[in-house]
Amino acid sequence: MPQFTKTLVTTALPYANGPVHLGHLAGVYLPADLYVRYKRLKGEDIIHIGGSDEHGVPITITAEKEGILPGNVVDRYHGMNLEAFRKCGISFDYYGRTTSEVHHNTAQDFFLEIEKKGIFRQKNEKQFFDRKANRFLSDRYVTGTCPICNNAEANGDQCEQCGTHLSPLELINPKSKLSDATPELRDTMHWYFPLGRFQQQLEEYVSSHEKEWRSNVVNYTRTWLKQGLNDRAITRDLSWGIKVPLETQEAVGKVLYVWFDAVLGYISFTKEWSAKQGTPDVWKEYWQDPHSRLVHFIGKDNVVFHTLMFPAILMGWNEGREVERYNLADTVPASEFMNFEGRKFSKSRNYAVYLGEFLEKFPVDTLRYSIAMNYPENKDTDFSWQDFQNRTNGELADTLGNFIKRSVDFTNARFDGVVPCDSTVEAWNTLGIDWNDALEQLDRAYEEFHFRDAAWLGMEIARAANRFLTLSEPWKMIKIDREAAAKAVALSLNLCHALSIILFPVIPETCNKIYAMLGFDGTLEDRTVRGKSLFAELVLPGLKLGHKIRETSEILFTKIEDSAIAPELAKIAGLLAEAEKRDAGVAEALLEFKPVISFDDFSKIDLRVAKVIAAEPVKKAAKLLKLQLQVGSETKQVLAGIAKHYTAEEMIGKNVVVVANLAERTLRGEVSEGMILAVEGADGKLFVVEPSGDEINGKEIQ
Ligand code: 2FM
Ligand code: ZN
Repeated sequence: MPQFTKTLVTTALPYANGPVHLGHLAGVYLPADLYVRYKRLKGEDIIHIGGSDEHGVPITITAEKEGILPGNVVDRYHGMNLEAFRKCGISFDYYGRTTSEVHHNTAQDFFLEIEKKGIFRQKNEKQFFDRKANRFLSDRYVTGTCPICNNAEANGDQCEQCGTHLSPLELINPKSKLSDATPELRDTMHWYFPLGRFQQQLEEYVSSHEKEWRSNVVNYTRTWLKQGLNDRAITRDLSWGIKVPLETQEAVGKVLYVWFDAVLGYISFTKEWSAKQGTPDVWKEYWQDPHSRLVHFIGKDNVVFHTLMFPAILMGWNEGREVERYNLADTVPASEFMNFEGRKFSKSRNYAVYLGEFLEKFPVDTLRYSIAMNYPENKDTDFSWQDFQNRTNGELADTLGNFIKRSVDFTNARFDGVVPCDSTVEAWNTLGIDWNDALEQLDRAYEEFHFRDAAWLGMEIARAANRFLTLSEPWKMIKIDREAAAKAVALSLNLCHALSIILFPVIPETCNKIYAMLGFDGTLEDRTVRGKSLFAELVLPGLKLGHKIRETSEILFTKIEDSAIAPELAKIAGLLAEAEKRDAGVAEALLEFKPVISFDDFSKIDLRVAKVIAAEPVKKAAKLLKLQLQVGSETKQVLAGIAKHYTAEEMIGKNVVVVANLAERTLRGEVSEGMILAVEGADGKLFVVEPSGDEINGKEIQ
């Protein structure tokens, strides 16, 4: 492994199609910021590149809904999100936009390079076309009934109700979202990226990193590799996006698929950053020097795009090249999700707290701290107002804030605001903390992306410091032993200084206030210098005898009263009540029976008891199980959308009810010769209908 001399951190580009919320901050942007700030304190060469993902169909749909242009949508949300990140203290070195010219050029260069090498495949396919709108309809523009769960409002790419990934051609009764018309099928040609061509290289790449990667990242990636990688269409028939850069007739009206372009944004934005610095070639040092480490911070839903798709695009570029070869990601710290008061964030249901809104009510560091302490590293975590209030009041205000204020106030009151003596390392050890060991632990926590541990360690030191001050009682001691009191004060002030550095990545605004109270000008950001670690100053106490601190202290955190969170709790209660009403609405709707049918109609349905004799998952269809049913003397193959509720093993041997005379259908290239009956219980869990008894196999249900 090369010795790394610099690091490039990228964060997933949020769609400029809505405001970022707490879940985004927790999974991607705060952890990246903690990492970057920590490394800067160590004097390392590191840059953080992010930006807005401004293409993609959801953006054009928003624009159409609002009757504005897609450009207006992305302008609005790019500005809003940039401002929200600024207020959250996310210290990007650059925050770009995929609508920029540099980015369009970069993505087109990649397309042309890979096209020139003959790597892409072109395929003719049938696609829905809306005659009224005179447009091909990409997946999201088609809606219809889900073939798996019968949801009448499934999208062309996925059914939100059962989660199955679909192709628009699989929908029953497809409709165009543009005109409501039934679309017709027409031939169109698209460029495909043959991921399978890179299968072996990707396997080698993943194997060489998997010891270091988180298990969720390895598992998602391995599942895809095991299933075998397929060709992926990388163009779309749309007008909003990056044009396919060819002059041919086939390229007319085609743009690059948003995921092909978005990942390349990381490169474009590094170029833009580099130019802005006045050093237009420096970006290459981060992308093309093997001594630069590449780290992608993302959420778990974006894993394979970063561990397979993007590396394969870069492999396509690198193929046959001796120079200007791109580095592949060294590590991809993907987070799990953070929920909000026990439920998933949902933009469509407005079940979210947006960053801008939050920061109008509470200080930024209370948010950063609370989120860092709940970082969803290897399992989903939860943000609750109660936890937020407890942490702010108990940890930030009572422990940290109280310690700093008491130390500063007492020094001003009794020692003229001057550090009264030097502090020794031995004195530090009286805290019961081995400093070198603590700093090593902190370093490991940050370097290995254990951000909860890192924040927790910082607060442990604050706790020990607060305890030390309380127990050493310099305000009493000074009456009998001034020297002993001086030592306690000097150590406390040095601990304030140490905490300002240790906690800086988590609560930078507060640490700068502490730093100022200790009598320093400027900010801790100003003090970071490449090649010099500020942590050295923690081992050699940073405040020497005679150092003058500021004459006034300030309250770092005010406690959050119950009355401040009461409106938030009321809002949640309101949203939950609405959700319950909606769920009840669904139950009521179910009781609105379907229109009456004749007995003859009913008798057309051939319902039979069958036994599952074999079952297996279906490739690339996480929701489907392929069942072999014994129906009397016959066997039937049925695809059932139950894989999230039953394993293949659990299904084997079960009696089920099958609609035995349903017309055959093909799903995911597999034939389904019927349908089994199931019922949805609470929380969307499916239960298959299981008649009991062996003697009834093949019998008709009447
Ligand atoms: O899931 C999303 O929000 C995507 N916009 C993330 C893109 S990450 C990267 F590829 F740019
Ligand atoms: Zn469905």
